[in-house]
Amino acid sequence: MSGVEKTFRKILNGVFVITTKKDDKVNGMTAVWVARASFKPPLLSVSIGKTRYSHDLIKESGVFAVNILSGKQVAEGRHFGFKSGRKTDKFKDIEYDTGKTGSPILRDTAGYLDCRVVNSCDAGDHTIFVGEVIDAEAREGIEPLLYRHEDFF
Ligand SMILES: Cc1cc2nc3c(=O)[nH]c(=O)nc-3n(C[C@H](O)[C@H](O)[C@H](O)COP(=O)(O)O)c2cc1C
Repeated sequence: MSGVEKTFRKILNGVFVITTKKDDKVNGMTAVWVARASFKPPLLSVSIGKTRYSHDLIKESGVFAVNILSGKQVAEGRHFGFKSGRKTDKFKDIEYDTGKTGSPILRDTAGYLDCRVVNSCDAGDHTIFVGEVIDAEAREGIEPLLYRHEDFF
């Protein structure tokens, strides 16, 4: 592993499922590159690979929700993180609610932030989407999942 990769692993992240909806298509993908970006208005950034199906859907719909996985949801992180919604319906057999933006809201998570895209920025092989939080819920007593490489790879 290169020094750059090794060093990036010292940055602590949570684990999230970024969901979105475009017309009748819903999709979700696991992401760790999520960060708060502003107090006022409340903004956050998500870095999404340009090849992801979610990338196209978020670009077209202008909405996404950040679902904050709980410490008991490594399996959900794997479910949404290793296959593409282009080829499979990842929401088949998964119960969810619908957020204000229309994005799917997962159950039993530590909480969620439902966002409208207000800006985007080219970032190498990823695009950083900046979302304004229009609805949010922190679920009492549910701790978020901390990303550990060995849980996923
Ligand atoms: C633990 C984990 C973290 C990930 N973090 C990101 C991320 O921050 N950004 C990203 O673009 N992809 C990330 N991925 C990869 C996507 O989740 C994966 O490519 C997914 O299959 C894309 O789904 P889609 O094509 O349906 O959008 C991560 C995957 C895993 C397992």
